[in-house]
Amino acid sequence: MVIAKKYIIVKYFEGEPKASDVKIVEHKLPPIEDGEYLVEAEYLSVDPYMRYFSNKLPLNSTMIGAQVAKIIESKNKDYPVGSRVVGRIGWRTHTIINLKNFSENSVFNLKPYILPDLGDLPTSLALGVLGHPGNTAYFGFTEICKPKTGETLVVSSAAGAVGSHVGQIGKILGMKVIGIAGSDEKCKWITKDLGFDYAINYKTQNVMEELKKAASEGIDCYFDNVGGEISSTVMHPMNPCGRVAVCGSISAYNEDPDSLPKCTDSLTSILDNQLQVEGFITLRWIDRSQEGFEKNLKWVQEGKLVYRETITEGFDRMFEAFVDMLRGKNLGKAIVKV
Ligand SMILES: NC(=O)c1ccc[n+]([C@@H]2O[C@H](COP(=O)([O-])OP(=O)(O)OC[C@H]3O[C@@H](n4cnc5c(N)ncnc54)[C@H](OP(=O)(O)O)[C@@H]3O)[C@@H](O)[C@H]2O)c1
Repeated sequence: MVIAKKYIIVKYFEGEPKASDVKIVEHKLPPIEDGEYLVEAEYLSVDPYMRYFSNKLPLNSTMIGAQVAKIIESKNKDYPVGSRVVGRIGWRTHTIINLKNFSENSVFNLKPYILPDLGDLPTSLALGVLGHPGNTAYFGFTEICKPKTGETLVVSSAAGAVGSHVGQIGKILGMKVIGIAGSDEKCKWITKDLGFDYAINYKTQNVMEELKKAASEGIDCYFDNVGGEISSTVMHPMNPCGRVAVCGSISAYNEDPDSLPKCTDSLTSILDNQLQVEGFITLRWIDRSQEGFEKNLKWVQEGKLVYRETITEGFDRMFEAFVDMLRGKNLGKAIVKV
């Protein structure tokens, strides 16, 4: 008999999530039935959307999230023992998978899939550059910003999973890339190792003044991961008919959704600069997931796309890893190794 551990939400998050808002519980799993298989988590993802969406679930729900897991028992010939799957299974050590409980196109219970062959690359990349964040960067940037060689791109949360990826696609396409991030270490990484042309530390520098120096030619594309004041500031000096992909607004995730913080009006910039501003959810391109995966894999194999992971060891430290990511302690993708 297998004892599974899982995190449940016992109190809705208010402000920054607190350890007492979740609880680890143990429960015995029943024997698997025909068509089912049992998986053991190896790597789990901690992502900003968990802060935002967890409060929409009933209390005592399992924390949502994706993991790479190994099949340790199976009564489904398509999912043999020893294979690995990637699935939105939640913060759980062991899970019985019955595919009838999953959907082809729901954000939270997307059907698990067999991990593709990644060669010598770590399997954890299926939660980052070769998974959902990778496809977010690829489709969100190319489809909405419609980037062109020679143009100037600004990306916020530029040293994070999605932002570091978007900036590198910008460089692959021959753009000038300016990243905004929250520490000197992050700014150094994106310029020295990832080839960004310019980095702005929004915590210690004046973003408007730095943009004037870094992008005197104006800004054509803005990939927005953070929202709030940073985004209003970036939209002001954008070129006519510039494109803005609104991917996330993490600056407001810890705030009360009924009383969001006020920031400088950006509608005037949108009007004056005739900007095209479009929000997106990556699920929009679910039918093209394989294309994004293959493109990102090829860039990684060619050495054009550099990945980095911030790995926390131990299932019992998932909550710590989650809050650390929200606080900006991660470079690249935040991952938990069981
Ligand atoms: N639309 C979609 O379908 C979709 C899919 C995936 C992700 N997203 C969004 O994309 C964004 C990035 O996600 P990710 O997984 O790549 O996370 P990430 O950037 O790897 O990690 C989150 C980062 O946010 C930054 N941050 C935290 N509070 C901030 C604040 N008040 N102002 C500015 N930056 C702040 C921190 O970096 P600093 O040190 O730089 O502050 C932190 O490292 C998030 O907003 C997420 O919700 C959207």
